[in-house]
Amino acid sequence: MASLPFSSSLLFFFSAAFLGSHSVSHAQLTTNFYSTSCPLALTSIQAVVTAAVLVDPRMGASLVRLHFHDCFVNGCDASVLLDASPSIATEKTAAPNNNSLRGFEVIDTIKTSLELLCPGVVSCADILAVAARDSVVVLGGPTWSVFLGRRDSLTANQNGANTDLPAPFFSLTQLNASFAKKQLSFRDMVALSGAHTFGRARCAFFRDHLSESNIDPAFAATLRPTCSNSSADDNNLANLDVSTPNAFDSAYYTNLLNRRGLLHSDQELFNGGAADAIVRTYSTNPSSFFTDFANAMIKMGNISPLTGTSGQIRRNCRTVN
Ligand code: HEM
Ligand SMILES: *[C@@H]1O[C@H](CO)[C@@H](O)[C@H](O)[C@H]1NC(C)=O
Ligand SMILES: *[C@@H]1O[C@H](CO)[C@@H](O)[C@H](O)[C@H]1NC(C)=O
Ligand SMILES: *[C@@H]1O[C@H](CO)[C@@H](O)[C@H](O)[C@H]1NC(C)=O
Repeated sequence: MASLPFSSSLLFFFSAAFLGSHSVSHAQLTTNFYSTSCPLALTSIQAVVTAAVLVDPRMGASLVRLHFHDCFVNGCDASVLLDASPSIATEKTAAPNNNSLRGFEVIDTIKTSLELLCPGVVSCADILAVAARDSVVVLGGPTWSVFLGRRDSLTANQNGANTDLPAPFFSLTQLNASFAKKQLSFRDMVALSGAHTFGRARCAFFRDHLSESNIDPAFAATLRPTCSNSSADDNNLANLDVSTPNAFDSAYYTNLLNRRGLLHSDQELFNGGAADAIVRTYSTNPSSFFTDFANAMIKMGNISPLTGTSGQIRRNCRTVN
């Protein structure tokens, strides 16, 4: 035991120096952020995500959406995870999120295991970024190295969740503006929308699109039984990707070519505008979609992170310490 402090600090020195020289950095975030402070962090997150998706394939989609809704509101700072309290106006009940966001229990399970493994080290914001990547991978999509080192916010922004998240009734111009506001390009917007290759949406969000002119009538007819004009149907679910609902693939874009987008905003990407060419490319060349999606996820994950001594590492993702 006497030699352990020496050898372990030597090991720490060499591994830190080795990994440091091979780290890739993106703004202030790095891919090897936890390699010495919590070397098993990524493996543990992956294990929980894989198990959760095995039980419920939709969970992969829900976890990807959580990261998106985190990043677009005050940056990727886990603000979306904070529960309501006297000092927190939670984002969870904002219009795009209320009765809609899922996966909070999976994030709790991950956090609990990481607090046992490396107390106070891994941020909730980073857990969201890694869980999103792992969800895409386990359902057949591309992989990428996740940039890490985000810290967790002390506040939430309910108003921001109502104003900064794109809405399903948006036009192509409005969709572009909403992503441009987050420094994401038109192409990033088209690629990130490909996350609608899995997951579900509620009737209230696609009902009006069923009566529009740019939808395949046969496709619309299959949806009307679950989404009539009665508000009793508001919460009925349909697959965002009608052809391969639980797989991360490029079928979303092929559906758009066939006017089988579920949301008005989906079909805006193939409706005679500037996105048409990109949709065609992604449909015929899935690997170009995978490459662009992975790069756009890294860009989205880099929106205004808290780093250094800003924010905190929450012990419980639902509350500030
Ligand atoms: C382009 C603008 C976007 C709009 C207008 C939009 C809108 C929506 C809406 C209305 C739903 C259904 C919510 C419900 O019925 O409760 C949904 C679901 C979903 N969205 Fe988006 N979204 C957009 C972009 C994105 C992006 C960038 C991502 C991720 C990178 C994403 C990932 C998802 C996923 C995976 C689901 C299904 C979630 C589940 O089944 O739990 N969306 N989106
Ligand atoms: C959220 O949904 C619940 C019903 O599930 C509703 O009672 C509540 O008013 C909604 N909150 C907001 C802020 O719309
Ligand atoms: C998207 O918005 C950006 C920023 O306003 C603008 O420069 C660009 O031309 C827009 N792209 C399209 C295709 O509308
Ligand atoms: C539902 O309402 C829309 C718009 O108000 C209308 O065009 C459509 O025909 C209605 N559909 C049914 C099945 O009643």
